[in-house]
Amino acid sequence: MAAISFQSVSKRYASARGTLQALDNVSFDIEPGEFFGLLGPNGAGKTTLISILAGLAKATGGRVLVDGHDVLADYAIARRRLGIVPQELVFDPFFNVRETLRIQSGYFGVKNNEAWIDELLENLGLADKATANMRQLSGGMKRRVLVAQALVHRPPIIVLDEPTAGVDVELRQTLWQFVARLNREGHTVLLTTHYLEEAEALCNRIAMLKKGQLVALNRTSDLLRLATGNVLRFKVDGELPPELAAQARITGRIVQLPAPGALQIEQYLAAVRTAGLTVEDVEIRKADLEDVFLQVMSADESSGGNRWQVPV
Ligand SMILES: Nc1ncnc2c1ncn2[C@@H]1O[C@H](COP(=O)(O)OP(=O)(O)OP(=O)(O)O)[C@@H](O)[C@H]1O
Ligand SMILES: [Mg+2]
Repeated sequence: MAAISFQSVSKRYASARGTLQALDNVSFDIEPGEFFGLLGPNGAGKTTLISILAGLAKATGGRVLVDGHDVLADYAIARRRLGIVPQELVFDPFFNVRETLRIQSGYFGVKNNEAWIDELLENLGLADKATANMRQLSGGMKRRVLVAQALVHRPPIIVLDEPTAGVDVELRQTLWQFVARLNREGHTVLLTTHYLEEAEALCNRIAMLKKGQLVALNRTSDLLRLATGNVLRFKVDGELPPELAAQARITGRIVQLPAPGALQIEQYLAAVRTAGLTVEDVEIRKADLEDVFLQVMSADESSGGNRWQVPV
């Protein structure tokens, strides 16, 4: 049985300016023990899908099952199996870190939880902040508390909505080691992140949403294989001609272009020279998940079949 089953989930938000289709008939399953990535640009519907899973928002259509339990009809059972780290920092400013975790334990009816709370504090680098008031924590530390809070009742399914936003490099590594350990021990993980190198390293399977629609669903390794083989990377001293800019991933002076073959590479470099630009530090590398993501997001859905999705 799937750990999480999204079945034709739709969500419409009504606003003064009309309705917004935040999710459009989204269906996929996450199997027990998977480390699953849910990716998509800002506003794609990731948090909306997680809110529906958590029972915090109601789908307009379809349903969601957690270990076979409907998140609406069997709310308490389904919710207990989930440990959710929300994207938004929400906390009660009147309690300290340890109290916050005790209260959360109590909420799930877990007693004598101090040993596990200590382990969470230790693993999330919060041990020396245990008695600090929530108000006194930095943004990254508050996020660590949110992670600890989500795990306090040892949920079999861990849902992380951008857990590393605003978190320093060291904690990102500690956090991933910890979550990877929980995953090895059998926990299912659902992760959303904009750090695609994290998703590439951690997730065995990935779904991508675009404007509320599922546009990719596959094993991470297969997505990387499906992407255009190589990427041409170089530096330029000016603005790229528009026909190249449209296909390129540009970070300041660094330009990266999907390049299936040598001919393509020659054409790109010729076009740049014709535009009167100087090219430096030319390099060719294999496509990574960020290239896949950009290719998926720029694909024209009207062209029919979607090569990024495998039927399950
Ligand atoms: N409570 C709400 N009322 C109205 N519209 C909403 C509400 N929550 C989300 N939306 C809209 O639904 C769409 C999807 O939002 P959502 O938060 O799910 O995106 P996301 O994929 O999580 O984006 P991000 O990467 O920025 O977190 C957006 O257009 C957003 O403006
Ligand atoms: Mg979000």
